[in-house]
This record gives sequence, C-alpha cells and structure tokens, in this order.
Amino acid sequence: MSFKISVTGEDISFDCEDGETVLEAAERAGYVIPYSCRKGVCGNCAGKISCGEAKVKGQGLCTGPLEDVLLCQARPISDLEIVPVRIRTADPVSRKTFEVRVRKVERPITDVAVIHLRFPIGNRAVFRAGQYLRVLMDDGDSRNYSLANPPHRNDSAELHIRHVPGGKFSQTILANLEKGATLKVELPYGEFTLSEREDQPAILIATGTGFAPIKSIVEHQIKSGGTRPMHLYWGSNIEADLYMRSLPEKWGATHPWFSFTPVISCPDKNWTGRDGLVHHAVQNDYPDMAALEVYACGAPVMINAAQKDFCEKAGLKDEAFFSDAFVPSGFSA
Ligand SMILES: Cc1cc2nc3c(=O)[nH]c(=O)nc-3n(C[C@H](O)[C@H](O)[C@H](O)COP(=O)(O)OP(=O)(O)OC[C@H]3O[C@@H](n4cnc5c(N)ncnc54)[C@H](O)[C@@H]3O)c2cc1C
Ligand code: FES
Repeated sequence: MSFKISVTGEDISFDCEDGETVLEAAERAGYVIPYSCRKGVCGNCAGKISCGEAKVKGQGLCTGPLEDVLLCQARPISDLEIVPVRIRTADPVSRKTFEVRVRKVERPITDVAVIHLRFPIGNRAVFRAGQYLRVLMDDGDSRNYSLANPPHRNDSAELHIRHVPGGKFSQTILANLEKGATLKVELPYGEFTLSEREDQPAILIATGTGFAPIKSIVEHQIKSGGTRPMHLYWGSNIEADLYMRSLPEKWGATHPWFSFTPVISCPDKNWTGRDGLVHHAVQNDYPDMAALEVYACGAPVMINAAQKDFCEKAGLKDEAFFSDAFVPSGFSA
C-alpha cells in the first residue's frame, strides 16, 4: 500500500511506499529536504504535517496540523500534506555499499584517529564535498562518519574519528582496526554541502572532528579553482586538540580567498590567539550576517548556540545556516 505525500503551497507530490519514511520517499522521488543524522536526534529534518496521519518514532501517532515532526522518522498511515523547511529537486539518490580495506590508521592526538580506507580496485565512490558515509556493522547497527577527502580522490575515504568513552565503534572496534582489516560502508549521505550561492562568503565553523567535512569542502574548492571567500573558525578546549592545524594555516598562506582563525576555550598562558566560545568569535568578527552563509559542524551544543545567536542576533537567514551535528548515530540514538 502506498500513500500520497504533497507539499503545502507547492506543486509537488510523490508516493510513499509502505514502511518508508517521508525523507526516504522524497529522496526516491528526486526531492531533497534538509536532514543530517537520519536517526531522529539532530532535528534538521523537522517540518510540519498540515493534514494526515503518520507514525513517528519517538513522537508516536502524529495527526496534522502539527509542527516539529521529524520527517526522517515519519511513516505515513494516510495521505499526508507536509511543510518541510526547504525542498528542492535533485537526481534521485543512488547509494552504494562497498567492502573497504583499511590502508592506514593514524593518531595525530590521543583522542582522534584518522583512518584511510581503500575502495575495491576499480570502484570509485561518488559523493559531494561535505557528505558522510555509514559504517555498517555486523549486527545491523551503523555509524555515520564524514568524508574528509575531496570528491576527486574517490578511490579512497579518509575519516576523522573522535574517541567517545565506551563507544562501540570509536573505542571497541577502532581499537582493533589495523591495516588490512575490512569494513562495510554505504554512501553518500548528507546535505552538509556548499550551496551554489557563490557570491556569498561562507563562514565555516568546526569543533573537534567537525573539521573533517570542512577539509573536504576546502580541498574541493582548491582543486576546482574556485575563489568563493571562506573563513574557517576551528574551536577546541586546548590548542593541542586542533589535530591538523598546520593544514588550514597552509591554505590561508596560499589562497587569498581563505582565512583561518583558531579559537581556544580553555587556553594556557602561552596562547596569544582568540579565546572563548568559537561562535562568539565569529559573531564578534561578523556582527551583521545577513549576506553570509554559515556551515557549522561538530558538537551539537555549539551548533545549537550558533544557529540561535546568529539568526536571532546577527540577522543570518534561517536558510543560510547549514549543519551536521555529530549526535550519537547508533541503534539507540
Ligand atoms: C551526520 C553525522 C556525521 C558524523 N560524523 C562524525 C565524524 O566525522 N567524526 C566523528 O568522530 N564522529 C562523527 N559522528 C558521530 C558518530 O556517528 C558516532 O555517533 C560516534 O563516533 C560515537 O559512536 P560510538 O559507536 O563510538 O559510540 P556509541 O556506542 O554510539 O555511544 C557510546 C555512548 O556515548 C554517547 N555518544 C555517542 N556519540 C556521541 C557523541 N558524538 N558525543 C557525545 N556522546 C556520544 C552515547 O549516547 C552512548 O552513551 C557523526 C554523526 C552524525 C550524525
Ligand atoms: S532528526 Fe531527522 S535528520 Fe536528524
């Protein structure tokens, strides 16, 4: 049995198969609505149901009209009319699963592993800068990790993984992951990709391993010869946690369109750079954000605070804020 989903105020409708979520049905039909985790945690996919009924994991039976329904978790049980935050057309999503081999595991600091994976010979992965892959585990569980390599380096994947105490993947599995081991991955996922509004400077904000997709985005612009102005703010508690700091410093020294500002929240007495919360440093430098786009990635607490402050106090348009919050992405998420 399938249901019809239509979008209020738009000439858009598509079918949703039994068991499919609104997000999955939209993608299959060639529409993109905002999302990030796809696990009901980050809230990026929240929209309205204008009328109709859906079962929503974590929210129960939802009957329209109703706001803040997670469209990544909503499975219609009648025809539905929805209002997503944004919707645009795109090619229907085509994802592939690969068995990849670990080529190298590096540990630039104790808490972060940089994993280099190799796709099977002759296989290339198609993805856009800023997207993520899913590591598929034997028990059916999965974890999301952003691709740190740019799309032209598509015979391999580079992941930056922060150690989460007690974490099934980032602690237990990662501890035994050595050169030659295999992992099953599925890609591409994610909407944390640069818009086509080339005229608008992009403010990039990362905390911790949120640097990974930003590395992909910047390296892609370098490769493609673009000149869109980009200013990266990378925040951490202590200086040593900026595990690849020399890389954005090098980009800043060689590309006039790129600037880099490291921001340390708990600096020691030798730190002479910016301190405090990373999003406060951005707001200080850009009190008027009306003509900017912001791409924020990493700790959910930073992303929530940045979105609220930038939109409410600095005039950033809602639709100009893009984020991937690194929320838990396992079964229990
Ligand atoms: C779109 C997306 C992209 C992501 N990309 C990256 C990435 O590039 N690099 C990266 O390091 N992580 C990334 N993450 C987070 C990642 O998917 C995992 O959630 C994380 O590695 C923890 O998995 P685990 O199996 O080690 O821990 P789990 O076994 O899932 O969790 C162990 C415990 O830690 C808590 N926990 C889980 N994740 C986090 C977290 N992120 N912060 C604080 N507590 C947590 C859980 O609630 C649980 O109590 C991303 C998440 C999303 C949604
Ligand atoms: S809550 Fe739906 S995409 Fe994160």
